Amino acid sequence: MITITTPTGNIGRRLIERLAFAGKPLTIVARHPEKLPRSLLEGEIVRQASSDDAAALSRATEGTDVLFWLTPANFAAPNVRAWYRKAADAVSRAVRINRIPRIVNLSSIGANWADGLGPISGLHDVECALNDAAKDVYHLRPGFFMENFLTQLDSIRRDGKLHWLYPGHTRMPMIATRDIAEAAAARLTDHAWKGHGVLGLLGPTDLTLDEAVKTLAVIVGRPMKNVQFTPDEFRRVSQGCGMSHDFAESYIEMSVTLNRLNWTHIGEPRTPETTTPTTLGTWASHVLIPLVKVA
Ligand SMILES: NC(=O)c1ccc[n+]([C@@H]2O[C@H](COP(=O)([O-])OP(=O)(O)OC[C@H]3O[C@@H](n4cnc5c(N)ncnc54)[C@H](OP(=O)(O)O)[C@@H]3O)[C@@H](O)[C@H]2O)c1
Repeated sequence: MITITTPTGNIGRRLIERLAFAGKPLTIVARHPEKLPRSLLEGEIVRQASSDDAAALSRATEGTDVLFWLTPANFAAPNVRAWYRKAADAVSRAVRINRIPRIVNLSSIGANWADGLGPISGLHDVECALNDAAKDVYHLRPGFFMENFLTQLDSIRRDGKLHWLYPGHTRMPMIATRDIAEAAAARLTDHAWKGHGVLGLLGPTDLTLDEAVKTLAVIVGRPMKNVQFTPDEFRRVSQGCGMSHDFAESYIEMSVTLNRLNWTHIGEPRTPETTTPTTLGTWASHVLIPLVKVA
């Protein structure tokens, strides 16, 4: 049995579509099962658990042969590292109790860094805990999600100013989450791999934010430009959005380190295997444009 967590997220949603279409029987573990489409509630086994609830996760993952695990960010966490450690502990206990033999773990570029990368260093803890809990674990380490542009939809519609903690000349590997779901589906259904593996997922090419926004502006047909937040501006805005003080600081730490070290140097090298097909233009046509049009 394949078990999928975070089924309402960017990746989980696409992964389930892909696997259900291929006729794979699934167990779906959701924090809020009521949010799932009726077709899944009627057609698949659905169980309820939060990512940090060890007892509920152990019950929900019973009978699992291969687990897709994704540790969600918790923007309200008063202690970000403690959140990741609690989730790491919960999933590794479930893996041990249910003797789950194989895990595909959605991690991040940079998760090989134990410290200094904010939430990404939290994902490092999750990787280590899963490696301790099972013999066969595959960590997927994607770069910057193209879906991050969707967090700026209101600005795209309003004045075209996109705010980041990164300068516009920052070059980063940008990937569509549908390509991440595709890579996860391939590992979940492939019984041949063994041991502790890591795969960087880097999109078709590295782009600066300025290059990306130039492309998006042409495709969407609206002027757009990047604006870099200072850490203090970010602190002020994040407080207004309900982000905890610690998460804001953790996010600032991540951006400072990424700006200093350079995204393209912290992760796995670009190779045919780490390069994925969906271009920013294709992503924008399929995903961004329909959402910009919905006023
Ligand atoms: N953004 C990037 O550029 C980037 C780059 C590399 C790695 N990542 C990693 O990618 C992951 C995010 O993936 P995504 O974009 O697919 O997720 P997403 O769209 O942000 O969705 C989050 C998912 O997690 C679920 N969730 C949230 N809190 C939960 C909890 N306490 N217990 C159980 N489920 C919970 C949500 O379910 P509900 O319906 O219950 O809310 C939803 O299904 C994170 O681990 C992030 O660190 C992101």
